[in-house]
Amino acid sequence: MNSRKTVQQFLETEKAFGLHEISVPKQASPIPSVFSDKKTALDALREEFKNCQLCALAQTRTRLVFGDGNPGARLMFVGEAPGFDEDKQGLPFVGAAGQLLTKIIEAMKLKREDVYIANCLKCRPPQNRNPFPEEIKTCSPILLKQIQIIQPKIICALGKFAAQTLLSTEEPISRLRGRFFNWNGVKLIPTFHPAYLLRNPGDKKLVWEDMQKIMAELKAGA
Ligand code: URA
Repeated sequence: MNSRKTVQQFLETEKAFGLHEISVPKQASPIPSVFSDKKTALDALREEFKNCQLCALAQTRTRLVFGDGNPGARLMFVGEAPGFDEDKQGLPFVGAAGQLLTKIIEAMKLKREDVYIANCLKCRPPQNRNPFPEEIKTCSPILLKQIQIIQPKIICALGKFAAQTLLSTEEPISRLRGRFFNWNGVKLIPTFHPAYLLRNPGDKKLVWEDMQKIMAELKAGA
């Protein structure tokens, strides 16, 4: 069937369903090239690692959890590793800790779609055990590449593993949180992990203080 006939048939069907006018925009709305370039680069990276076998977690994972959100995000959250729900769904922070993170993001007057969310490890450690140093060493190049592509203005490291991995330090999270670090030209601020907050709700006010610092930076044009 030639394409003219296809279009004609389409229009006749539309007419039969009561559509009498089709408005064609003069110009297709442009896709910002920066966004599409970053999306393309992230998609290519995801594709490269979709069947990753670089460590033993490949044998126990259900799904690899690459990361999710806006490729052009100014703010990026980095967590530890996928848990039970993330492993099932292939998306970061969708379990109980994820629901709290969503509330935090919304309290900042942002949406999850505005930010980018990733983890140090892309696959779930069995029984949610802590990541092994070797696993972090093997997996973190993917995270570094994600950051390089997204080029966020601010990185919020959620919890000890994200903060210590990115800052190459063993300082405890209680001492790291709430301070901005210069991480290769990006402002990096560690805070407590949402899973920790579920166990220690009294510390939510400290995290809220940290989020307010981020909001002030974003407002100032970061
Ligand atoms: N905890 C994390 O660190 N990351 C997730 O994606 C979920 C829970």
